Amino acid sequence: MPRVRFHPNQREVEVAVGESLLRAAILAGVHVNASCGGSGVCGKCRVVIEQGTVASEPSAKITPEQAAAGHVLACTSLVTGDVEVRVPVESQMGDTRSVLAREHRTVTHGSALTPKDLGELFGDFELDPATRRLYVELPPPTLEDTIGDLERLHRELARVHGVGEFTVDHACLTQLAARLRSGKWKITATLTRGGEGECPRLIGIDAGDRSARHYGLAVDIGTTSVVAELVDLSTRAALGRESEYNAQISCGDDVISRIVYSMKKDGLSKLQELVAGTINTLVDRLIEKTGVERDDIVYLVAAGNTTMIHLFYGIDPRHIREEPYIPTMNFIPTVEAAALGLRIARGARVYCVPGRASYVGGDITAGLLASGVFRSEKLTLFIDIGTNGEMALGNAEWLLSCACSAGPAFEGGSVKHGMRAVMGAIETVRINPDTLEPMIVTIGQQRAKGICGSGLIDTVAELFLTGVINEKGRFNLDLGHPRIRVVGGTAEYVLVRAADSAIGADIAITEADLDNLIRTKGAIYAGIATLLEQMEMPVSAIEQVYIAGGFGRYLELDQAITIGLLPEVSEDKVKYVGNGSLLGAHLVLLSQAARESAGAIARNMTYLELSTNPGFMDNYVSALFLPHTDQHLFPSVLKRVSRGGRAAGAYPVES
Ligand code: FES
Repeated sequence: MPRVRFHPNQREVEVAVGESLLRAAILAGVHVNASCGGSGVCGKCRVVIEQGTVASEPSAKITPEQAAAGHVLACTSLVTGDVEVRVPVESQMGDTRSVLAREHRTVTHGSALTPKDLGELFGDFELDPATRRLYVELPPPTLEDTIGDLERLHRELARVHGVGEFTVDHACLTQLAARLRSGKWKITATLTRGGEGECPRLIGIDAGDRSARHYGLAVDIGTTSVVAELVDLSTRAALGRESEYNAQISCGDDVISRIVYSMKKDGLSKLQELVAGTINTLVDRLIEKTGVERDDIVYLVAAGNTTMIHLFYGIDPRHIREEPYIPTMNFIPTVEAAALGLRIARGARVYCVPGRASYVGGDITAGLLASGVFRSEKLTLFIDIGTNGEMALGNAEWLLSCACSAGPAFEGGSVKHGMRAVMGAIETVRINPDTLEPMIVTIGQQRAKGICGSGLIDTVAELFLTGVINEKGRFNLDLGHPRIRVVGGTAEYVLVRAADSAIGADIAITEADLDNLIRTKGAIYAGIATLLEQMEMPVSAIEQVYIAGGFGRYLELDQAITIGLLPEVSEDKVKYVGNGSLLGAHLVLLSQAARESAGAIARNMTYLELSTNPGFMDNYVSALFLPHTDQHLFPSVLKRVSRGGRAAGAYPVES
């Protein structure tokens, strides 16, 4: 990877080709003014290329003389090879001495599961999908051979493919005579595997040889978004992936509001139709993209939280919300896709990855399967952060799981300028410890519209490290800084001024926001602490941490530890699973052995109900500080605070 070296502070970082200089500066811990979020508007991120070249766009903010002298905007300049960059005084965010003193941030992300990791995992499961498509040529009936159509089909399937007894969908029976004849007795039969003690079932008859056109869908049904992957069940190849907001979002942001909505008149059927509609939209897109025919998509495996799966099946989820929190089912029977309003092959089946409890659903089972935790010797903490913090601790021998209601703060809810991680959301924040001025980058490097989860974690961490807020999340008003102000009795810090934002107003983080964020991180940390306590294990016993979910991918480990969201673990123990729910569904779609493993995970995992766990509340209260009431649990944060040019010294650092 190319190396980017920054002067005058001599910091160096390796980044991928195509990375912007602004992001390289962030990774290197170099402060550059960036008040428009990297949209190329403010012109404050001007730097000088001293050696090497970058791919840069011309800007009205750079004069021809400056351009000739190698000046470029850091945010719109992309790394193409090794390069040396000078940050001129006017683009620096103040004296760099404290910056130099702060810890190098280049490698703070842990690592993602690699294609090799996944390849090994996928390769270990034999290709053995739940459906078979068998081509067969039947001898047409004659006056000498007068057996019925179904018996004729059975006879040839047995003779050519060794198929034994099978049962038949009624819809298949009604079409059988016509299909055999229109196909001139050359047809493809689609059979599903029978359940335990059951025979296979004939679910489709199609004219001609379609045996190689054998496709399935893996679907992650999230509360916020739905992702579908089209998979070739003959070759394992993933042909395409599409995602869309879960259309149920118009009925509430989180699972509780969806359950409440489902209890209204026609609410349940509307929610079911909405999620089925979202999946149909994704199917339409995948069909258009790949040319695969709808009738050849014969199986769908979905994974999602327990409420989402209930709603997908049109099952009343109200008891999930009421003590003692019992779902209708954790192991979900296979049903016909048509019964759920899905537009794939007639007769296609839907299966859902089983869950463990009302708040530890099939998405977690799928993630534990896809990350290989279920067969790992190492003690693993698996965590999926969304509106609920769902987590599991264990290894191949045992798994203990729990879920805590984290609230929507990390997804932008209950935060004044919070928003989802979409274009224009502030995703990275650094605050200069000397000037207390922010450096922000938005998704898509556009003018800022609000702050998404990773930006919020960054903001809290940076405000804390620089002493703008204390360990209780209270602003230090004595600093008298123009960005810190009190509006309507609530203190806040202005991240983006109206002139630089896309919303025509200041974007700020308030003390009320900080309260919500601290409560959210406190709940997640308390969940982890309670799992460890239950097993009488210290944090140091954790050998690996898998972080799942879209949000997790953008979580900066050191920032998450700084605010006490995650316990102190070294970066080499951390891996990002990505969309574990989708990966797990994909595995189950391909392999009966994976399906059985998922069942074993859900069956054998112990579930800890936190609402009745006395230790959880104690852990929660202790975690309502930055990073925690017991600072010694966070030695690296103590170190960063002591080195980091903290403005007000509100955090009591011990020597
Ligand atoms: S122009 Fe680059 S951050 Fe504003």
